Amino acid sequence: MSEKLMHAVQYDGYGGGPSGLKHVEVPIPTPKKNEVLLKLEAASLNPVDWKIQKGQLRPLFPLKFPLIPLTDVSGEIVEVGERVKKFKVGDKVVIMLNPFYGGGLAEFAATNERLMVARPPEVSAAEGAGLPIAGLTAHQAVTQAAGIKLDGTGQKQRNILVTAASGGVGHYAVQLAKLGNTHVTATCGARNLELVRSLGADEVLDYKTPDGAALNSPSGRKYDAVIHCATGIPFEPNLSARGKVIDITPGPSAFSTCVLKTLTFSKKKLVPLMLYPKAENLDYLVKLVKEGKLKTVIDSKHPLSKAEDAWANSIDGHATGKIIVEP
Ligand SMILES: NC(=O)c1ccc[n+]([C@@H]2O[C@H](COP(=O)([O-])OP(=O)(O)OC[C@H]3O[C@@H](n4cnc5c(N)ncnc54)[C@H](OP(=O)(O)O)[C@@H]3O)[C@@H](O)[C@H]2O)c1
Repeated sequence: MSEKLMHAVQYDGYGGGPSGLKHVEVPIPTPKKNEVLLKLEAASLNPVDWKIQKGQLRPLFPLKFPLIPLTDVSGEIVEVGERVKKFKVGDKVVIMLNPFYGGGLAEFAATNERLMVARPPEVSAAEGAGLPIAGLTAHQAVTQAAGIKLDGTGQKQRNILVTAASGGVGHYAVQLAKLGNTHVTATCGARNLELVRSLGADEVLDYKTPDGAALNSPSGRKYDAVIHCATGIPFEPNLSARGKVIDITPGPSAFSTCVLKTLTFSKKKLVPLMLYPKAENLDYLVKLVKEGKLKTVIDSKHPLSKAEDAWANSIDGHATGKIIVEP
C-alpha cells in the first residue's frame, strides 16, 4: 500500500540559513502507542530554531538529519495511539514538540502528550502557537527567577526592567510582570514604543537613545529585577541593592559572573536562565489568553510554502512579537 505524503520543510546539515531549507514530500508520520498525530494549524519561530541550524547548540542538541525544524505548534488531533490517555481525536491543542526532533514545519506531526495542552476556541491557532518557548521563558523569568506572584499578592510593588520588550519573550514578559502588580520599565525600538505601552509598560525607552542605551528609568527607579531579553548591554544596569539580572541568553561569562557573585556573597545577582518547559505553565498561559489577560502579538504570518521568508525574518532580529507559519 502506498504511503500518504505531506509537505514539509527540512534541512540536511548544519548551516545554510534560509537557503538551507528544502521543500519536500515525505510520508505522514505514524504515531506510536503513546503518541498522537496532529494536523498542524500554525507554528511559531524562535531564535533557537535557526541557532540550532547554525550549530550553536551542537553539544546540547546533537541532531539527526534530515531535520524538520520548529517546536511550537497548534494543531488538531487526527489519530491517537492506544496508550494516550488525556486527549482524543478532534481535540485542538498547543504543544512544544521535542527540540531534538522538531517537526513543526510540516502539515502533520506525531508527538507524545507531555507538553501538550488543550486550546479553547477563544484562542486562535496562531495565538496558541506563539506561546510555548517565548511564553514559558517569560513565565519562568517573571515567576521563578524574579519571584513575582502573578495574582499580585507578592511583596510591595517591585520595579522591573524588560529589555527587548517588543520581541517574542519580552512582549509576554511585560504583560506577565504587570499581572504581578509591578512597575515595568521596558526598552524597544522607536517604532514599537506605543505598542509596548499598550501591553502595560509604565515607562518605555527607545534603546537607540543615550538614556535607552544606559537603561535609565525616566522616573529614576532602581530595578529589583531585569528580565534581560536583549544582548550586549551592561551587567548591572541601575540595580537596587538586592537586584538581579535574569539573562535569557547566557554565555560562558554569565555563568562565571553568576558563580563569582555567589562566592563573594554579592547581594546583586546574575541569574542565567535556561527554559525548563512545563505543561501546567503552558496551560496557565493559554487560559490567560482565553481570558483576555495575555496577548500574542503577531509580527507576520507566512504560508509553509514560503517558510524561508519566516526563517530570514527571525534571523534578521527585528520581529515585533511572534512570526507564524501556516500550513
Ligand atoms: N534561555 C532560554 O531558554 C531562551 C528561551 C527563549 C529565548 N531565548 C533567547 O532570548 C533572546 C530573545 O528571544 P526573542 O524570541 O524575544 O527574540 P526576537 O523576538 O527575535 O527579538 C526581536 C526583538 O528584539 C528587539 N531588540 C533587539 N535588540 C534590542 C536591544 N538592544 N534593545 C531593545 N530591543 C532590542 C528588536 O527590536 P528592533 O526591531 O526595534 O531592533 C525586536 O523587536 C534570543 O537570543 C533567544 O535565543 C533564550
